[in-house]
Amino acid sequence: MDDLVSLCKRRGFIFQSGEIYGGLQGMYDYGPLGVELKNNLKNAWWSSMVYENDNIEGLDASILSNPTVLKHSGHEDTFSDPMIDCKTCKSRFREDQLPENCNKGKCDFTEARQFNLMFKTNVGPIDDGTSFAYLRPETAQQIFTNFKNVVDSSSKTLPFGIAQIGKAFRNEITPRNFIFRVREFEQMELEFFVKPETDEDWHKTWVKKRLDWWEKQGVPIDNIELYSVPDDELAHYSKGTIDIMYKFPHGLEELEGIANRTDFDLGSHTKNQHELNISAKVMPNNNSNTRLAIQDIDTKKWVVPYVIEPSAGVDRGILAIMNEAYNVEDLGKGKERIVLRLKPHLSPIKAAVIPLKKNNEDLVNKAYDLKKRLQKLNLGRVVLENTGNIGKGYRRHDEIGTPLCITIDFESLEDNTATVRDRDTMQQERVNIDALPEYLIKRISE
Ligand code: GAP
Repeated sequence: MDDLVSLCKRRGFIFQSGEIYGGLQGMYDYGPLGVELKNNLKNAWWSSMVYENDNIEGLDASILSNPTVLKHSGHEDTFSDPMIDCKTCKSRFREDQLPENCNKGKCDFTEARQFNLMFKTNVGPIDDGTSFAYLRPETAQQIFTNFKNVVDSSSKTLPFGIAQIGKAFRNEITPRNFIFRVREFEQMELEFFVKPETDEDWHKTWVKKRLDWWEKQGVPIDNIELYSVPDDELAHYSKGTIDIMYKFPHGLEELEGIANRTDFDLGSHTKNQHELNISAKVMPNNNSNTRLAIQDIDTKKWVVPYVIEPSAGVDRGILAIMNEAYNVEDLGKGKERIVLRLKPHLSPIKAAVIPLKKNNEDLVNKAYDLKKRLQKLNLGRVVLENTGNIGKGYRRHDEIGTPLCITIDFESLEDNTATVRDRDTMQQERVNIDALPEYLIKRISE
């Protein structure tokens, strides 16, 4: 993990937030390359959900949440961790993560108390505690509260889904392990609405689809285990949850959870609950003004759909993907190279165009023309690397996962060819510059 954290800082992927003032625990900032990698991962998820499935629509809802939403979702009452204080060192720990000794000697623990993980903030000009909002602890709730808006505006019938990517906030007691457990993070969540009797089949289908997707992002099935969450550990809304557990550098932990949320969520947020034959145990709701149900075309009965929810963490995804991609390769004769073997569609930079000499106008202009041409393909970022040191350029681009480096040299000026070096094989070949757009498209789609 230390090597990965060091690469992330050195090359501009991820920084501790507010580092110049000592940082803020559980918060990280994505740097120039991190933001590209993160956007590429989110785009891959969005494509696989929204663009590849005509029965899935997207949403981008607000982060600040009406407390009534989180009251009826159950978060106000149950979204908490048992927490214990040490009277010796005055530190606070999660009950399942107690150390034996603290920095002041033997720990002296208090009884466990429940600690709600939601962040609150004041809304409007008066800070008297009566007007507040929560920063959403998951993106899911606004999908449920927008259920009717989406159904009405896009004429959906079951089964169908609503997908959302966005920030979520949790006041974790012990943020740890780099970006694995943080207080501000991003989720990629799909709420897939199905006929109640089809829930278990859809649950299995989504587990399989999600494993396939992670594999395509470079997280191999060999480093994953499925964990069927036992009844006594299930979240309050879940009838069954399968966690995709990944072998992170610090141990086997959850990358994504796929839950069968039954009719709990729509049943909790709907008006007229008593008319709807809701199977989940829900809190009575006299606040909602909307019926969150769908009419069965055959029976004409109103049905509260069940929900299958694949919920993945963007930050944990980045950690898993970088961990898989990070390689230190022995080049023989005491030499080695660090290479980030990212899937090309995730690479922050798709190609680097390098003029052989940084002060030669002809070489630089030709390189710049090529950079512009490749950039226009819209595959992602293409850079002009004008340091004049080819070896250094290759090393830097190996470390940040750039699939191709293209060198423009004096021969290029005569025969319009360039040397293309492949990140993974380090093989070089001479390619006609006019053929490079196709060449790059092919490499990125691998
Ligand atoms: N809507 C369901 C839900 O939020 P969850 O298991 O609490 O379920 C889903 O969270 C995913 O969000 C997790 O699998 C994980 O990838 C990510 N996640 C949750 N808490 C996190 C945290 N404190 N830091 C980073 N990622 C987190």
